[in-house]
Amino acid sequence: MSEPKEKQKAWGGVFTEDTDKEVEIFTESISFDKRLYLADIQSSTAHARMLMNCGLLTSDEFSQIENGLAEIRSEIENGTFKYDIAKEDIHLHIESALTEKIGDAGRKLHTARSRNDQVITDLRLWIRDGIDRVDALLINLQKAFVGKCDKDFDVILPAYTHTQRAQPVLAPHYYLAYCEKFERDRQRLLDCRKRVNVMGLGCAAVAGTSIPIDRNKTAEELGFESIAANSIDVSSDRDFVLETAFCLLEIALHLSTLAEEWIWWFTSEFRFITLPQKFCTGSSIMPQKINPDVLELIRGKTARVAGNLQTLAVLVKGLPLAYNRDLQEDKQPIFDSFDTVEAALSLAAPLVEGMELNRDVIAQRLELGYLDATTLMEHLIIQGVPQRTAHGIVGKVVRYTMDKNVPLAKLTLAEFQAVHAGFDESVYTVLGAKNAVSAMRSYGSTSPEEVRKQIERWKEKVNTSRQ
Ligand code: ARG
Repeated sequence: MSEPKEKQKAWGGVFTEDTDKEVEIFTESISFDKRLYLADIQSSTAHARMLMNCGLLTSDEFSQIENGLAEIRSEIENGTFKYDIAKEDIHLHIESALTEKIGDAGRKLHTARSRNDQVITDLRLWIRDGIDRVDALLINLQKAFVGKCDKDFDVILPAYTHTQRAQPVLAPHYYLAYCEKFERDRQRLLDCRKRVNVMGLGCAAVAGTSIPIDRNKTAEELGFESIAANSIDVSSDRDFVLETAFCLLEIALHLSTLAEEWIWWFTSEFRFITLPQKFCTGSSIMPQKINPDVLELIRGKTARVAGNLQTLAVLVKGLPLAYNRDLQEDKQPIFDSFDTVEAALSLAAPLVEGMELNRDVIAQRLELGYLDATTLMEHLIIQGVPQRTAHGIVGKVVRYTMDKNVPLAKLTLAEFQAVHAGFDESVYTVLGAKNAVSAMRSYGSTSPEEVRKQIERWKEKVNTSRQ
């Protein structure tokens, strides 16, 4: 009488019946966790070397394992590796392929290890690499912004609050605003990386192991900064996945703000910018259309990155300690967040490089909207007028110019003095967008000297950032 096929499964010993086919399909994760193959091979190799160093494997057994795993790696990479959903996940695929190749030595690899600590180790290694890739992409995007600063130093843009014209700013001040955002995104990710870079291996299923292993050795080989101190904690938690998903979402949200802004600036109504045609697409019915689809999809795909964080939060909500199979569902959302954000970042950099400001259009409209009104108020404050009084005076002046439909700089001194007798000739030194920008003083403002210093700081920074 032949044994049920389940006996061939890694966990089949206690079973007397085959797994239902639909259950196999429902429970498999190989279709998506195959992306962990390299991390799995690295962590298994390090684990085996540690077992050898602790006298749990002979050096011959270790060599067989190391070579067998290297062969499996090339089979996966050259496309000859055979996948089979009956083997559930990447861990069992690699282990069973190894045993097929080398026999009993392969059957020793899972000593002092469970898939519960194996999967978090692999995922942590994979996410750590992903963070480093995203960091390099963020630096690249910052470089694209910094690279435009000198060329557009003389361009003044209207800055908006409430989507209403507010104050004039230098174009490089605007570009560097995004560099600051993406820098916080970098720092946030690098901080998160510390909590990702913790080794769970050796926690086994939940309670640790009675086998005398040395977790320090494995951690050292895999480059983990620390070792999880509690087996129940580390095998049960996916906080490192959620934290990474949030860091990626924040990047997507910043990209989405940029996309939204430039979509508007690209409209016929604004005409502030020109986008390279290779980053636009047309309409199949309206021949005249040049659409900013890449920007729209950068904005649109932010929704799925937000959704992934939500999925992860709901996934872990209410799970008791420790490992539960639910946790297998953590991979697709985090993989998708990486894929989406990496794709958006790598398109954003050349798009930023290729974007051209339509200087004439911007300049023609720069004196609309009283962008210099706040500086005029500050001019009075510096002369000793209380802020609230100065605000009221300038409000009246603006109302007067609105009715006349002219910019503030076009009023005569007599007209200014009719509202407030204290106005003198010096008023013209702060009027007009250019003067208003030049009047700025504070650290972090759009004052040309301050912006020049910031550009130099950023040039230095992006050229020395780790790549
Ligand atoms: N594929 C599983 C996951 O991703 C690996 C751990 C399974 N552990 C177990 N005891 N069934 O979570």
